[in-house]
Amino acid sequence: MKLLKLIANLGYGSRKQVTALFREGRIADADGEPLYTDDELGVQAAYEAIRVDGEPLDPPQGLLLMLHKPPGYVCSTKDKGRLIYDLLPPRFRLRDPVLSTVGRLDRDTSGLLLLTDDGALLHRIISPKSALSKVYEATLAEPLRGDEAAIFASGTLMLESEQKPLLPAALEVLEPQRARLTLHEGRYHQVRRMFAAMGNHVDALHRVSVGGLALGDLPAGEWRALDDADRVKLLAG
Ligand code: URA
Repeated sequence: MKLLKLIANLGYGSRKQVTALFREGRIADADGEPLYTDDELGVQAAYEAIRVDGEPLDPPQGLLLMLHKPPGYVCSTKDKGRLIYDLLPPRFRLRDPVLSTVGRLDRDTSGLLLLTDDGALLHRIISPKSALSKVYEATLAEPLRGDEAAIFASGTLMLESEQKPLLPAALEVLEPQRARLTLHEGRYHQVRRMFAAMGNHVDALHRVSVGGLALGDLPAGEWRALDDADRVKLLAG
């Protein structure tokens, strides 16, 4: 791919704007030598050696990242209010292919959210065939009754307006009003609806892991690009 298209696709600007960056000598190699628009990647400089205003390029196509979503942010590019894209570099919203969320978390849910521009990977992660685990910690309005774990594990719980019962889910009681729930599917508002079916209410919900990948100590509102080792972990769970 030509450098001009590659850099425009990363969201640095339209082709016209990126052409201007080249003309102004703002796109250079690691030694500060200006690069030319019409060369292919690798002819003048390897991806890692390209600089825009002295800064390395954003991660290339095939980006997978994790965001620690705080409560109050919506998983959308254009809803009203605070959007998860506000927590990423503004250029990321302009990338082509687009950077999409891998599934969604409700506005009031916090925790591990994945984003990628790799459509095949996205489908693999959310595919029912992969049945990747998703682990949530829920803080409840009422103490647990005691029979929830058996009901959630039964594979027979039917949520309102659904045609099929839920897959078995594992509940671990952490405190009388706090529990960890492991799901292998992702239905609309699933955790909140499961506890509502038990006559309870989720006051706070936090996702701690997807597949074998945990949020770890990434602070709320921060993100990090995932590497090959992270991908292996993710898909191994
Ligand atoms: N289940 C929910 O109810 N909400 C989420 O955000 C994720 C899972």
